[in-house]
Amino acid sequence: ATASYEHIKVSTPKPGVGLIELHRPKALNALFTPLMHELNTALKAFDKDPSIGAMVLTGSAKAFAAGADIKEMSTKTFADAYGNDFIESWSELPNTIKKPVISAVNGHALGGGCELAMMCDILYCHEKANFGQPEIKLGIIPGAGGSQRLTRAIGKSKAMDLILTGRNFSGREAFEWGLAAKVFETPEACVEGAVETAGMIAGYSRMAVKAGKEVVNKSQDLGIREGVEYERRVFHGLFGSEDQKIGMQAFAEKKKAEWQHR
Ligand code: HXC
Repeated sequence: ATASYEHIKVSTPKPGVGLIELHRPKALNALFTPLMHELNTALKAFDKDPSIGAMVLTGSAKAFAAGADIKEMSTKTFADAYGNDFIESWSELPNTIKKPVISAVNGHALGGGCELAMMCDILYCHEKANFGQPEIKLGIIPGAGGSQRLTRAIGKSKAMDLILTGRNFSGREAFEWGLAAKVFETPEACVEGAVETAGMIAGYSRMAVKAGKEVVNKSQDLGIREGVEYERRVFHGLFGSEDQKIGMQAFAEKKKAEWQHR
C-alpha cells in the first residue's frame, strides 16, 4: 500500500512504530482532500496492523501543514460545504483511531495544520515551530476543532486572543502554555523524540495503552465524577486481560513482561 501514496510517506522507523510524513512540499503540506484521504487510509492501516503500537505524524522541517488548502476552499459555497460535510473526514483521527498518535510539529502549523496537530494524542514540537489559527484573516474561523481544542489546552483568554487576532505563536510558547508536551531544539530531534516515545508506548500492553488513551480522552467530555467512574470501570475491565496477569507476574518474578500484543 505504501507505494500508492502520492501526498504522504509511510514507514516503520522502529519496531512497533508507524511514521506518517505529510509530503506535499510545493504547497507547504496544505491539507487538500486527496491528502486527507491518504492520511485517513494510512492511519487506519496502522491502527489495524497488530505489529504497530503507536504512530507519529509529522511534516517537513519547513511545514507540518500550512493549513487547509485555501485555493480548494476559495470557491466553495455554503451548499458545497454543508451538503458534502466539508471537514467531516478530518474527524477520523480523533474519533476512530484507537492507537496513540504523536504529532511532531516542525515549521508552519497554521489553521487546519494547527488543528490537525491538536487532534493527535500527544504534541511534540520544535521550539521555532510556527503555530497559529489565522482563519480570521481569511474571513472565516477555525473549522476542524481549533476553537475547542486550543481553548481546552491553553485557556479561554489566550485562545480568544489568538483566534480573534490571528497572530502566530512559537513552539516555545506552545510548550510553556501546555499545548505541547515536549519542545526540541531542532526539527530532527523533534521527530526522533516522537519516534522514541512511540517506541516506548509500543513496548507496553496494547490493551492497557488503548484503555489509557480512551480514559484520558473521556476526561474531555465528562465531568469529574462520571469521568472517575468511567475510569474505574475500564480499570476493572483490565483485570480480565491476560496482560494484567503477565505484567504483574513479571514484576513479582523480576522479569521483563512478554505482552500478548493483540
Ligand atoms: C494553499 C498554500 C497554503 C494553503 C501555502 N500554500 N499555504 N496553498 N493553501 N493554506 C502555497 C502557496 O500558495 C505557495 O504556492 C506555496 O504553498 C509556498 O508558500 P509561500 O506563501 O510562497 O511560502 P512562504 O512565503 O514561505 O510563506 C509561508 C506561509 C504562507 C507564511 C505559511 O504560505 C501562508 O501564510 N500560508 C497560508 C497560511 C494560512 O492562512 N493557513 C490557514 C488556512 S485556513 P505557489 O503556487 O504560489 O508556489 C484553514 C482553515 C481551517 O486552515 C478550517 C478547517 C480545516
